[in-house]
Amino acid sequence: MTDYLGYRGKACVITGAASGMARALTELLVDLGAEVYAIDRVDSPVPGVKQSFIADLGDQASIDALFTQLPARFDAFFGVAGLAGVHTSFLDTMTVNYTANKYITDTYLTERLNEGGSIAYVTSAGGLRWEFPEIREELAEFTDAAADWDTLVERTRAFDERHGGELAGFVGYMLSKRALNLFVAERVERFAAKQVRINAVLPSMTATGMLGDFAEQRGGMDNLKAASTGPAGRLAEPLDMARALVFLGSDLAGFISGVFLDVDYGMNALELAGVNPMRTRWTFADTLAKRAS
Ligand SMILES: NC(=O)c1ccc[n+]([C@@H]2O[C@H](COP(=O)([O-])OP(=O)(O)OC[C@H]3O[C@@H](n4cnc5c(N)ncnc54)[C@H](O)[C@@H]3O)[C@@H](O)[C@H]2O)c1
Repeated sequence: MTDYLGYRGKACVITGAASGMARALTELLVDLGAEVYAIDRVDSPVPGVKQSFIADLGDQASIDALFTQLPARFDAFFGVAGLAGVHTSFLDTMTVNYTANKYITDTYLTERLNEGGSIAYVTSAGGLRWEFPEIREELAEFTDAAADWDTLVERTRAFDERHGGELAGFVGYMLSKRALNLFVAERVERFAAKQVRINAVLPSMTATGMLGDFAEQRGGMDNLKAASTGPAGRLAEPLDMARALVFLGSDLAGFISGVFLDVDYGMNALELAGVNPMRTRWTFADTLAKRAS
């Protein structure tokens, strides 16, 4: 049988592998014969992984130590780990969800991914509309190729102060997801030169470890389900996202780079068609100013 997906014997690095989408992805890739390197801040209990690492993506030194232990070259990187931003600060949420991914990508992935390799991040439907100029403008300081870890932390703090200080973790969530989408678009050419593809999956609400936090933020599970159950008639499951990630990282997606894959069973399509209102076309400047007044 032809191995159309092409994962057999391929080295795949996955962050967030202890739970939710990344755990489901880890299980699929192990089953497809990949050598999986599983990373999380807690132990990743998936049988069959090549190696499991505990690392804190909120800490630059921990990431640097991790990359001394990972293989010198690998074939796929899946940046899935994240925080919901409900019980974490604006800075911590932005650091884990965005800064860690930018730092890993700019510092390590350019040199360590094999030709034909793939990078895929999980961003969010919450990061939609990043492409509108007035929104992109608010993100550019974070995707700046010259900005290192400390600069990004400084800019995140300054963004908070500029908008009145004490921004909620959930604002950090939205900022991180929008910025990561723009980052993907801006890095397409650099990675194409290395024959490496870079893409994002944008999930709708998914029943993972984060669901309780999101429900709390939206005033309870009933409210969350009413607002987040689209044409599918159900919330997404971790496996729905894992399958999309498997596809994007596979040989079947060999000419796909710079794609923002809505895994939402048509929810964004309904907004784009004007059937449902476009919920996320707002700038931070406008929204946070309104909130403050
Ligand atoms: N669940 C949803 O509805 C939803 C919707 C859109 C996007 N997302 C995104 O999906 C991705 C996966 O989340 P999930 O829904 O599977 O949630 P999850 O909570 O089940 O998994 C997230 C994983 O990230 C790990 N993690 C968090 N902080 C870390 C750190 N500092 N260092 C290392 N690992 C860390 C956690 O330990 C956990 O295993 C996240 O980026 C999230 O923002 C989730």
